[in-house]
Amino acid sequence: MTAVDRAVYDALRARRVTRRMSDRAVDPETVGLVVRAAKFAPNAGNRRLQPVVAVTNGTKLRLLRLISPGMIPVPQAAVVISIDVGRAASYGFPPRAPGLYVDVGTVAATLLTAAQAAGLGACPVTSFSRAAAGRILNLPETVQPHMIICLGYPDPTGGPPPMPKP
Ligand SMILES: Cc1cc2nc3c(=O)[nH]c(=O)nc-3n(C[C@H](O)[C@H](O)[C@H](O)COP(=O)(O)O)c2cc1C
Repeated sequence: MTAVDRAVYDALRARRVTRRMSDRAVDPETVGLVVRAAKFAPNAGNRRLQPVVAVTNGTKLRLLRLISPGMIPVPQAAVVISIDVGRAASYGFPPRAPGLYVDVGTVAATLLTAAQAAGLGACPVTSFSRAAAGRILNLPETVQPHMIICLGYPDPTGGPPPMPKP
């Protein structure tokens, strides 16, 4: 194993969900770095039916938190992964085709790794109102949000992160 391979493996091993985030701002370039990593995710047929949007506006972040029972961190930014069911239909996929959701996972894993590389803490959230999130983000009806990834610097005084309730 080369030193680079080892560093990549060590980063994968060290990554943990961050549920306590500090109030240190995350600059837009760093958020952009994480978002751009989505294009490196493996993707069925390379169709890219999972649009990713960055959220850095404080009001929108607060609203997203309000409609997300599973969002434990208070994030400084977020990335929302959706499924474009309109484009999926143009390829003949029904909205609930399993592959569409598998690719939400591959994008999520890639973004979590990119956040780790950028020195950020991250926490995926799937417990939220999809309809409300779509409205907060002004998404078209055919773009359905499926995962919010909270971003922020880990709170150094935070202690071990609490586990979410089952
Ligand atoms: C699809 C998916 C949904 C998740 N939803 C939530 C969530 O709503 N809230 C939360 O705090 N963590 C959520 N997580 C994070 C998991 O609880 C976490 O990854 C798991 O406990 C393992 O911890 P680790 O990532 O630190 O190794 C989710 C993870 C995945 C993959």
